[in-house]
Amino acid sequence: MPRLLIRDLAQVASPAGRAAPLRGSALADLDWIDDAYILCDGARIEAVGRMRELGPLDDDIEELHARGLSAVPGLVDCHTHPAFGGDRVDEFSLRAAGASYEELHAAGGGILSTVEATRAAGEVGLARAVSRHRDWMLRAGTTTFEGKSGYGLDRKTELASLEAIAAAGGIPTWLGAHAVPPEHATADAYLDFALADVLPEVATVAEAADVFLERGAFDVDQARRYLQACAAAGLALRLHGDQFTESGAIPLAIELGARSVDHLEATGSEGIAALAASDVVGVLLPASALFLGRPMPPARALVDAGASIAIATDFNPGSAFCESLPLVCSLAATQLKLSPAEALAACTVNAAHVLGRAGTLGRIAPGYRADVVLLDALDWRYLAYHLGGNVVARVVKDGVSD
Ligand code: NIG
Ligand code: FE
Repeated sequence: MPRLLIRDLAQVASPAGRAAPLRGSALADLDWIDDAYILCDGARIEAVGRMRELGPLDDDIEELHARGLSAVPGLVDCHTHPAFGGDRVDEFSLRAAGASYEELHAAGGGILSTVEATRAAGEVGLARAVSRHRDWMLRAGTTTFEGKSGYGLDRKTELASLEAIAAAGGIPTWLGAHAVPPEHATADAYLDFALADVLPEVATVAEAADVFLERGAFDVDQARRYLQACAAAGLALRLHGDQFTESGAIPLAIELGARSVDHLEATGSEGIAALAASDVVGVLLPASALFLGRPMPPARALVDAGASIAIATDFNPGSAFCESLPLVCSLAATQLKLSPAEALAACTVNAAHVLGRAGTLGRIAPGYRADVVLLDALDWRYLAYHLGGNVVARVVKDGVSD
């Protein structure tokens, strides 16, 4: 594979140092170089520096002229739900007219309507849907994505969802406890089935397990039973928690040593303090809060208290039909009161940490994977500043430019 020189960049910005996750004031520490180059050797970054310090190079180097563009690390989306059939545009219209997400869910719409469409999609339909969604993410600068199952909730469709995510290059998470499907009378009966009949096979494909701990979904005891069984099968743990109500997700995540607890729109001061004193990452999903008209999560308070945070899209058909991390960075700056530098670290190196890949992903530095987003801007902060704009000019993934 030839080496690739990305030259004449207006700026390169990357989270500083080598540590992960970045927390507290370190979240804003950035390495920032003007008039710069990035040299990739195959799928790895070999060197980064100033153009004027670039020495002589061999003839067989491919050059990418990036005058007028800035570079940030390939973005890492650590929370998406890309494996679904159908859409929820009718429900979106009903919500626009005043119906609430929880009411629609309780009436058998919401997640369960997507379960029906996902079961009907079949293996081929699901694989097509995931690769389509992956392409949307890539165009928006996401070079690594985590993808959750959770719209099949039977053995065949959960497995097909996870395999479709892996085949599309994503990092699969089994969201086996997302909702109780109609063929099971209770949440406990469903979990009996899921843990006995689904977990053994999905554990061979998924890297992590996730649960929706919420009123109307799964309670703390059910979430503990599910997550403990998943941990015993070798999966890392994630939780959807405090989205609508504070239901004990943060203490449970800490008790079980989970990688993250995600959402946190309803988290209060005790939860903030507990998370800040722990190693669990708070994954904030401002596009979901915006899409549902919910309060934003307490991002500033979490960072100021010393917690580790990441930001992600939560891409899904019901609560966040949004694949754009640049838009999430804009929301982070305008709604969560994070600086552009904090937002960048939250969707690169900290998101990579949530996915167990902090040593190789999320920085533009020697040895890291050659995933780079070229922004159509002289200043990298346009990533957050250009609200909803076409800020991504080109994407380099594994040392290959699009
Ligand atoms: O992260 N909260 C639960 N799960 C998804 C939404 C799923 C849906 O509405 O289809 C979320 O927001
Ligand atoms: Fe989610």
